[in-house]
Amino acid sequence: MGEVWAIVVAAGSGSRFGNAVPKQFLDLGGQALVIRAVRAAAACDGVVVVVPAANAELRLNEEGTFIVGGPGAVVAGGATRSASVRAGLAAVPDNAEIIVVHDAARPLATAELFERVVAAVRAGADGAVPGLPVPDTIKRVEAGGGGTLVVETLDRPALRAIQTPQAFRAAVLRRAHAGGGDATDDAALVEALGATVVVVDGDPANLKITGPDDLARAEALLARRGG
Ligand code: CTP
Ligand code: MG
Repeated sequence: MGEVWAIVVAAGSGSRFGNAVPKQFLDLGGQALVIRAVRAAAACDGVVVVVPAANAELRLNEEGTFIVGGPGAVVAGGATRSASVRAGLAAVPDNAEIIVVHDAARPLATAELFERVVAAVRAGADGAVPGLPVPDTIKRVEAGGGGTLVVETLDRPALRAIQTPQAFRAAVLRRAHAGGGDATDDAALVEALGATVVVVDGDPANLKITGPDDLARAEALLARRGG
């Protein structure tokens, strides 16, 4: 079996969070979000961390805390999430067989969740993503009538809310990104190739930190989990 590498994307500006320091560098229970995300990937053979170009001098490993459990690199990201993933891909060695892409904005992901998506790819899928049932009714909308109009109501049992980490056969992920496309996750680009992406059980505690309220919720979850 070839190596499993992780790319942790941490090159966003956190505009919705609205803090001068991007959210991925904020503290959650004594560790920056990005460090928690990297630690969840520690079982991988290597980790590439993608940071804002303005922070490209960051190494954060003076205390041995930034790169955990193997060789790794810190590279500068791009203008979009997909461009940042491509910057990370360029630093992943060719002998990587599986690549796991994870958002620094999900600091509570567990090593078990990484294992679950990797296992699904080892079992034959081109890609594997964690998904949760959707509790809300979801409607597709468009601008109209001087406001927002409902176009249709989607079939809730057929929907899943998708998280990271997302694991892929390295060659498939590289091909998906070769066209320079942009999407909100990597699976969307892999799906567009017609490749097989499976959904594994997501983790309700694997919160996405978008705004300050999410950080408060993450602190509560962390306290319940015991750190
Ligand atoms: N990301 C990135 N490069 C970008 C944009 C986003 O590496 N150009 C990363 C973010 O750092 C984050 C993940 O992609 O870990 C998910 O993005 P999101 O939660 O949207 O973070 P931001 O783009 O930073 O936040 P916002 O959209 O509010 O500006
Ligand atoms: Mg964003």
